Amino acid sequence: MPTHAVCPGSFDPITLGHVDVFNRASELFDKVTVLVTGNPDKPSGLFSVEERVDLIRRTVSPEIEVDWWGGLLVDYTSAHGIDTIVKGLRSSLDYEYELPMAQMNRRLSGIDTVFLLTDEKYGYISSSLCKQVAQYGGDVTGMFPDHVAAAVMERFRG
Ligand code: PNS
Repeated sequence: MPTHAVCPGSFDPITLGHVDVFNRASELFDKVTVLVTGNPDKPSGLFSVEERVDLIRRTVSPEIEVDWWGGLLVDYTSAHGIDTIVKGLRSSLDYEYELPMAQMNRRLSGIDTVFLLTDEKYGYISSSLCKQVAQYGGDVTGMFPDHVAAAVMERFRG
């Protein structure tokens, strides 16, 4: 059976750390879907869901599918025959945040979560921190893909 993994997240917007995890996941699994998913703890974002999807599609290689979903992650994975959730882990803080979600998803549908340790180059990179740097005019070179950095700076100029 071909393996199919999903990389879910808010991705508001994607960083180079996310892209690294997508690319590494696509070496480990036959198919990878990047899924922009609603997080009730982050109700409003800098970019709409459609814009986030578009920014990801313009970044990743065509073999990586990009989709969005407004419901429970496990309903999407069950409907699409996805066997594994892949997430990046930067630190023990991420671990504490991710552990209950991984266990809840496993309880709800039996799906396992695989964690890839973030490349050390991106260990301190997060969408929220990088957006804050851009908002106050700091240099975000090397944090976002170039076209994403341009979109972020444009959004704050507007
Ligand atoms: O990038 P984020 O915001 O940390 O990702 C969290 C996300 C979107 C993956 C999580 O909130 C999620 O899975 N949302 C979909 C709704 C859901 O399934 N919630 C229960 C999670 S156990």
